[in-house]
Amino acid sequence: MNKDMKRPVRKAVFPVAGLGTRFLPATKVMPKEMLPLVDRPLIQRAVEEAQEAGIEEFIFVSGRGKSLITQHFEIQPELREELERRDKLALLEKLSHSDIPSGKVQITMQQRALGLGHAVWCAKNLVGDEPFAVFLVDVMTLGEKGCMAQMVDAYNQHGGNVIASSPVPRDLTYKYGILDVENEGVDVSPINAMVEKPKPEDAPSNLHILGRYILQPEIFDILDERKIGAGGEIQLTDAMEKLMETQSFSSVKLKGETYDCGHHLGFIEANIAFALADPEFGDATHEILKKYINKDRKNAAA
Ligand code: UTP
Repeated sequence: MNKDMKRPVRKAVFPVAGLGTRFLPATKVMPKEMLPLVDRPLIQRAVEEAQEAGIEEFIFVSGRGKSLITQHFEIQPELREELERRDKLALLEKLSHSDIPSGKVQITMQQRALGLGHAVWCAKNLVGDEPFAVFLVDVMTLGEKGCMAQMVDAYNQHGGNVIASSPVPRDLTYKYGILDVENEGVDVSPINAMVEKPKPEDAPSNLHILGRYILQPEIFDILDERKIGAGGEIQLTDAMEKLMETQSFSSVKLKGETYDCGHHLGFIEANIAFALADPEFGDATHEILKKYINKDRKNAAA
């Protein structure tokens, strides 16, 4: 392995230019990435996960009507002063988590949503010649340690490219990108291949690709080709498969739970799980759920 392949992961790319059609009409004006998971928008949770992993620079691949996302990370002196004046120090502290220091945020535009691979390619000049993390913001994970921090640990040991994975029920493999790994039983394993939506009987494992990546910059040379893949989109998976011919890829099995917030039921479940796990809201949420659990659904609001 090239010694350069263990350079630290300092930059994260957040592709947030998708149309969020599954969430319409909620996402007609408001970006999907701004939907709140309990008390914070999805994008803030993703940025916090990146910070926990030691990442210092944040690159947003934005699109039409998505300016709210970057506005969310602006420091608002008037709001701070007002909270100070009202002695709302706990809120002030919460608010500070959405502040990113000057010079650490970069924004690029994906003018048309041509696919995830194309969105990542749009960050090429901002990333430059170094490894970087990619976050799919509509996937959230819950665990003692953040998903990206677990991946960075593995990257620091093995270098190369890293893909986060987690098990899905065998009969549902046809819905996911599934990894063919050398050793399914261990937490970090070399990846042999990726298979898109295999039937359960053809699936090489039940580990699905959950939406967090650490990639080497050579991926951009492949994305330069702008190869159109499934669904008429430029797919990141296709580019990773090609990179796999010359570079190592490892799977990191997430220690924790995964929630797909990109559709209604996944988002509802994520809100319940995150609220239950929250030190501030957990107990009260549990009480609320108990109220509904045995109720006839039709009369649930009564
Ligand atoms: P999704 O596949 O969830 O697409 O993208 P989407 O457009 O957001 O949502 P649906 O399927 O229409 O409901 C996963 C992530 O990749 C980004 C999205 O913003 C989302 O965070 N993305 C996807 C882009 O930035 N550009 C694209 O061309 C496609």
